[in-house]
Amino acid sequence: MTPQKPTILVTGGAGYIGSHTVLALKQAGYEVVILDNLVYGHRDIVEDVLKVELVVGDTNDRPLLDKLFATRDIAAVMHFSAYAYVGESVTEPAKYYRNNVIGTLTLLEAMLAANIKKFVFSSTCATYGVPEVVPIPENHSQNPINPYGATKLMVERILSDFSTAYDFRSVRFRYFNAAGADPNGLLGEDHQPETHLIPLVLMAALGKRDSISVFGTDYPTADGTCIRDYIHVSDLAMAHVLGLEYLLQGGESEVFNLGNGSGFSVKEVIEAAESVTGKKIPVVECDRRAGDPPALIGSGEKARKILGWQPQYPGLQDIVTHAWQWHQKRHQ
Ligand SMILES: NC(=O)c1ccc[n+]([C@@H]2O[C@H](COP(=O)([O-])OP(=O)(O)OC[C@H]3O[C@@H](n4cnc5c(N)ncnc54)[C@H](O)[C@@H]3O)[C@@H](O)[C@H]2O)c1
Repeated sequence: MTPQKPTILVTGGAGYIGSHTVLALKQAGYEVVILDNLVYGHRDIVEDVLKVELVVGDTNDRPLLDKLFATRDIAAVMHFSAYAYVGESVTEPAKYYRNNVIGTLTLLEAMLAANIKKFVFSSTCATYGVPEVVPIPENHSQNPINPYGATKLMVERILSDFSTAYDFRSVRFRYFNAAGADPNGLLGEDHQPETHLIPLVLMAALGKRDSISVFGTDYPTADGTCIRDYIHVSDLAMAHVLGLEYLLQGGESEVFNLGNGSGFSVKEVIEAAESVTGKKIPVVECDRRAGDPPALIGSGEKARKILGWQPQYPGLQDIVTHAWQWHQKRHQ
C-alpha cells in the first residue's frame, strides 16, 4: 500500500494562485485543508471544483488557528492569504500591515505552539523595488517602493529570524506576474476588482470593458511599453509542490524567484490577446504611472537548479489561451 501523504493547510486557497496550488497538491496525492476568510476567495470553486475542506476564517483569529491545528494533523502550511492591491496599500497601509504582517505573525506563532515548522510563503518581486539589473537574481537588494511590497519584505525578515531562532524551515517564493489559468479550464483568475493586465484585456475582448489603458508608451523598451515576466499559474502551483517536498525532505530555509527569465511588453500581451480571441481590443494610451519600472524580469535559475522546477508554459500564447478559455466560461 502506498503511504498516505501528509495534510497541508493552505491559507488563501479559495483565491487565484492558492486554488491552482490546491489542485496541484491534490493531484500529487496530498490531503488539503483551506483556511480562507472569503473576502476575495470563491466558495463555489472550493465546493464544486477542489472539493476539499474549507475552514472559513481569518489568519488573525488565533483561537481558531489553535483549534484548527489541535484537531487536524497538519504537516506544513502554504500561506497565500494576503491583500495584494498595490494602489490600495498606499492609501490604506494600516489594512495591509494588519493583514499581511500581523496576520502572518499570528499564524506563525500558532504554528510554533503546535510544533509545525514547515512553511511556504508567497512573496513578490515587489520586494525588489526598482531593479538595478534584469533578470533580477535572488540576492538583488530589496527596496520596496510601496507598502504592499514592504509588508512582504517584513514577513521575509520574520521568516529568516524564525529560521535562526526556532529551526523553523520556510521556502519564500518571490513571484513575478502570475497569469493564465488551469489548462483544463477548471480554475482561473477572478479578482474583484481586477487590476492585472491579461484578465483586463480579456474582459475588453468580451465586451465587459470599453477599452484597455496602456500606461506609458515612451519607456526605453523595443515598443515603448513596460515589460513584465508572466508566469503561468499552473507553473507557479507546481513550484509550490516542489518547494513543499523540498521542506518535507529536510531542506533548509531558502528563497526562490519564480520567473521565466524573459518578459513581454504590454503591446505584445494585447496583440497576443487579439490573436487568441480574434477580436480587436480598444486601447487608450495614457501617461506613465508613478513607480512602474520599465522592465521586471526574474531569474528562475535557482528554482530550476535546487527544486528541479521546469515551467511547462513559458510562452504568452498558452498563458493567454488558457486564460481566455476560463474567462469565456466564467464571464459570458
Ligand atoms: N497575483 C500575482 O501576480 C501575485 C504576484 C506576487 C505575489 N502574489 C501573492 O500571492 C498570494 C496570492 O495571490 P492571489 O492573486 O491568488 O490573491 P487572491 O486575492 O486571489 O487570494 C488571496 C486569498 O486570501 C484570502 N485572504 C486574504 N486575507 C485573509 C486572511 N486574513 N485570512 C484568511 N484568508 C484571507 C482572500 O479571501 C483570497 O481568497 C498573495 O499573498 C499575493 O500577495 C501574487
